[in-house]
Amino acid sequence: MHHTRSERIVLRRRRAGLVETVPCTVRYLGPEDHAEAANFHGRIAEEIGDEALFSADNAISETLGGHGRALAFFDGDHMVCFRSVSYAPSEVEPAVHDLEITGMDDHVAVMDFCVIDSAFRGNNLQQISYYLMESIVYADNKNILYTTVSPKNIYSLANVLDCGFCIEDLKRKYGGTLRFILAKRLDVPMAVATRSHREVRLHDVRATHDILAEGYLGYKLRHRSRGMVILYGKPIA
Ligand SMILES: CC(C)(COP(=O)(O)OP(=O)(O)OC[C@H]1O[C@@H](n2cnc3c(N)ncnc32)[C@H](O)[C@@H]1OP(=O)(O)O)[C@@H](O)C(=O)NCCC(=O)NCCS
Repeated sequence: MHHTRSERIVLRRRRAGLVETVPCTVRYLGPEDHAEAANFHGRIAEEIGDEALFSADNAISETLGGHGRALAFFDGDHMVCFRSVSYAPSEVEPAVHDLEITGMDDHVAVMDFCVIDSAFRGNNLQQISYYLMESIVYADNKNILYTTVSPKNIYSLANVLDCGFCIEDLKRKYGGTLRFILAKRLDVPMAVATRSHREVRLHDVRATHDILAEGYLGYKLRHRSRGMVILYGKPIA
């Protein structure tokens, strides 16, 4: 995707009793997009009430001001998907700490958030926007990507795992709420043994801590008749 031009993409938009295809555009954002990006983000954060998404105004300013990258999809003039990645020390330092990779700060990008208008959910935009962003972040010489996801956010968790992130930890963040700590390393091929995988219930905190302490990584979210589980596998060196 070009840095200044928009690319055209036709998406499905849902309305009451109707699903229609609409021509949309996608482009990278700059400081001039701040007001619209902050408004859109604020609206979605309000709707879902995810603690980690609140008070992101500073983060958005920093990112659009050059300490990261952001892109958005538009339906006409309306923003319908906004993804932001931070390179700011205030975000990278806690990530380096969580991943226990002291000294790697220059190579870490924090995948801050992806927010999508509800009429445009189901277009796989979380994954599409991730891959668009991955290539630009890699070109910026960042090869360790970090993110956190609430165990309550199953849609996001499924997508983040499907994009190749692995669960490395589960800890309390942002005012004490539980978050999975996930990472994807772009220069180190990641291999997890699946035949001997183990399944842990999504909300079983103790079992999750136990399996992570044994060195397993979480790589897949699955629906089972007894509820949702995470599949964990041992990394192969
Ligand atoms: C998480 C999120 C980005 C995923 O959006 P997406 O990429 O459009 O999701 P998918 O294309 O993978 O959706 C798969 C299915 O789940 C449904 N779905 C996705 N998110 C949903 C949600 N929050 N609530 C209900 N259903 C949802 C989709 O409609 C689709 O259903 P379909 O198969 O019947 O069409 C989006 O739900 C969202 O913006 N949520 C609020 C912000 C958020 O939590 N962001 C992630 C953390 S920063």
